[in-house]
Order: sequence, then C-alpha cells, then structure tokens
Amino acid sequence: MKFSIITLFPQLINAYISESIIKRAIEKNKIVIEIIDLRNFGINSHNQVDDYQFGGGKGMVLMVEPVVKAINSVKTADSLVILTSPQGKTWNQKLANQYRVQEKHLIIVCGHYEGFDERILDYVDLEISIGDYVLTGGEIASLILIDSIARLVDGVIAQESHQNDSFENDLLDHPVYTKPVEFENKVVPQVLLSGHHANIEKFRQQGRIKNTYNKRPDLLKEENLSIEDLKYLQELKNTKGE
Ligand code: ADE
Repeated sequence: MKFSIITLFPQLINAYISESIIKRAIEKNKIVIEIIDLRNFGINSHNQVDDYQFGGGKGMVLMVEPVVKAINSVKTADSLVILTSPQGKTWNQKLANQYRVQEKHLIIVCGHYEGFDERILDYVDLEISIGDYVLTGGEIASLILIDSIARLVDGVIAQESHQNDSFENDLLDHPVYTKPVEFENKVVPQVLLSGHHANIEKFRQQGRIKNTYNKRPDLLKEENLSIEDLKYLQELKNTKGE
C-alpha cells in the first residue's frame, strides 16, 4: 500500500517514519511512504503557499493552486485523496480496516494554519478528522492515519496482534500481564500461568467484555455477543462491573 503525504513540514513526517515498526514496514516493502513538500508547488518567486483571507480575519489560508498542483503530481486512477481537517469524518478502527482492504494509494493533504481555501474541497475525495479538537496542523493526523492502517497490512505485525485489538468486534482488548508474577502483593491471575488454553481464552474474552463494560459501555453491542458472553455480561451488571 502506498501513502503520499503532502505537507509543509516534511521533516515532521520523516522523523516518525524513520523509526520502529513503520520503518521496518518500509524496509520490508510492505508499505511505501512518499513525502511531497508543498513548498515545491508554491507560486511566484517566493514559492508562496498561503495568503490572507478575503473579507478580513486573522491567520493565513492555504492557497488552492499549490495544493492542486501537488495532488496532481502524484494522483493516479487508484488514488483516494484525503484532506486532514477538524471538520472531517471522524477516524476510527473500522475506517482503518476498510481503507486497508479497499485502497491501494492514499494521498493525504495536511491542512495548516487557519485553514485552507474552500475550493480545495473540490479536489479531494473526503476530509478526515482524528477527533473533536483542533491541532496546529494535519501532520500528526496524517501520521495517525498511516500508522493505524500500516499495522493492519499483512506482515507488518503478527496477525494475532491485531485480530483482537481494542475496537475489533466492538470490544476493547483484554488486560495483559508480564513478569514478575508478583509485584507489591499484586499477582498475575493464576489461569494465565496454567497453560490451559481454553480457560485462558475464556478468561480473556471475559476480560474484553469487562473492560468494555467498565470503560466504554457505549461500544458494547449485545447482538454480537454469544449466549455465554451475555451470561457473563449479566453477572457484571449484577455486580456493577466488579
Ligand atoms: N487539523 C487540525 N485539527 C485536526 C483534526 N482534529 N483532525 C485532523 N486534522 C486536523
């Protein structure tokens, strides 16, 4: 899968993708990340990319021409063009999965400053927001899109690592533990040390349901739960999540 990021701050993107799992995914040719410096498409001798807004008001606005030229420099018939913006559709795990399966090439335009010329919207397929708050720019948002999709690409991380991720199947993930077995009288649940796979899986499924019930009850969809899961949910309700 290929990502083309159009940004005024290429170093910000570069710093993140040069480390850790994303770096390895690039090295293993699982994903391709292309950084396009919007400044290269600026107009006039100053490579200008923004200007004051008509009608007056504070802040600089991204101009339509540099953005459209930058998009056209990388766009193909397979591209989906996304603009990061607090006004966009809110990003979530389902969209990450959907794009991972359906898209070959995402062009992500990082919004900036006080906003962008409204006419840019005619050249993008959709706006995506990463949440109901306003960032200084779209770089962090674009990295969130890339990171959340890239880890779903085959071979980037072990498949079982994301099969039971939080939000998959509308449940949060179960609690996990590592060494030591005991810390300040807090002990790892015995079943995890038992080697009994069926019991461990049951404990984990109940952990998913309990976590979701206590932390994000809005996610719980009873129609997705088995009869056994529903029984456990009823027990939780009776004991107020204990
Ligand atoms: N740019 C500024 N705020 C943003 C947000 N919440 N999501 C995506 N891009 C943004």
